[in-house]
Parts: sequence; C-alpha cells; structure tokens
Amino acid sequence: MLADKTYIEFARLSDVAEISRISRDEIEYGLGWDYTSGKLTQLIKNSSKNVVVARIDKKLVGFGIMTYRKDQANLDLLAVKEGFRRKKIGTQIVLWLEKVAITSGIFNIFVQVRKRNPGALVFYEHLGFRKLDEIRGLYNDVENGVVMVKLLRSMVNTT
Ligand SMILES: CC(C)(COP(=O)(O)OP(=O)(O)OC[C@H]1O[C@@H](n2cnc3c(N)ncnc32)[C@H](O)[C@@H]1OP(=O)(O)O)[C@@H](O)C(=O)NCCC(=O)NCCS
Repeated sequence: MLADKTYIEFARLSDVAEISRISRDEIEYGLGWDYTSGKLTQLIKNSSKNVVVARIDKKLVGFGIMTYRKDQANLDLLAVKEGFRRKKIGTQIVLWLEKVAITSGIFNIFVQVRKRNPGALVFYEHLGFRKLDEIRGLYNDVENGVVMVKLLRSMVNTT
C-alpha cells in the first residue's frame, strides 16, 4: 500500500519551487498566485509555521502548512499530487501537523476551504472538522470560503 511507504518530513528549500507550482495549479487556480517560491522560503524559516512534505521514495507527493498560535492553529495549505490521492496521504499530513498542535496545548485547528471544493469539505469532515461559517468573497472577493474547525481539547474543565 502506498500509504505505508509514505513518510512526512520538514520541507527543504529545494522543495519550494515544486510546492509553489502545485499550489498555483491545484489550490490557487483562478485566484492569482500568492504562494510563490519566495513566500514559501520565508514560511520554511518562520518558527510559528510548519511546512511539511509527504514523500514516497524521496519523491514529493504532497505537502501541508500549518500556523501555530498560542491557543489556535490554522491549516494554511494542503495538497496531494494527482495520481496519489485517496491513499490516505492527505490524512497522514494533517495528522502529523495536528500532533504538533496537540503537543503544544492548542485548543482548535481552523481551515478555510473554497466553496467550490466539495471534495476537500468531505475530506476535512472525515478528519473531524466541522463547518463553522461561510464567508462571502473570502477568496479575492470572487469566491465564498467555508471556515471549518476541529476541537482538539475543551476550554471548559469538566472534572
Ligand atoms: C483534499 C486532498 C488534500 C485530500 O488528500 P487525499 O490524500 O486524497 O485524502 P485521503 O486519501 O487522506 O482521504 C481520506 C478520506 O477523505 C475523504 N475524501 C478525500 N478526498 C475526497 C474527495 N475528493 N471527495 C470525497 N471524499 C474525499 C474520503 O472519505 C477519504 O477516504 P476514502 O478514500 O477511504 O473514501 C486532495 O484531494 C487534494 O490535494 N486536493 C487538491 C488540493 C486541495 O483541494 N487542497 C485543500 C485545500 S483547503
């Protein structure tokens, strides 16, 4: 099984061009190109962010970026290359990033999803995220965004 051969590790500077290209073609299509190689280089160096890649036989097959704040985290970007999807690679990337959030004592993970991306909405629901809100024109005023959240631990101590 491909998922068994998959490993997750921190992205290297040599990965930024490929991540940037996938982001442009698979995530940011129709919206412009924000995640350029220059921006990704800065994100890799930013200590409040984790930029990770999934590899099979050293080949990049997916990536994810999460921002960690005091109580909350945000999943900023996620993609698995076409041809490698529906093999639980996206799940492995999210769970890796989530584990860091849990260890850091974070309460919630947020993610914003393009309204016209129903596959991603189902994917996040499968991982325990729930729809919180829909923001009109979130993406460059041209497309609505769905805000989803996953509760990692309760803010209320019930013991
Ligand atoms: C969304 C994405 C990252 C999912 O990655 P993946 O590796 O294919 O997902 P997984 O194999 O871990 O999926 C786990 C489960 O999520 C659900 N799921 C995933 N993709 C789905 C889709 N396109 N349609 C419906 N359900 C889906 C399924 O329940 C799946 O389990 P199953 O295959 O046993 O039915 C991938 O489709 C992708 O890169 N899409 C393009 C970029 C993108 O949309 N990124 C998200 C931006 S917010």
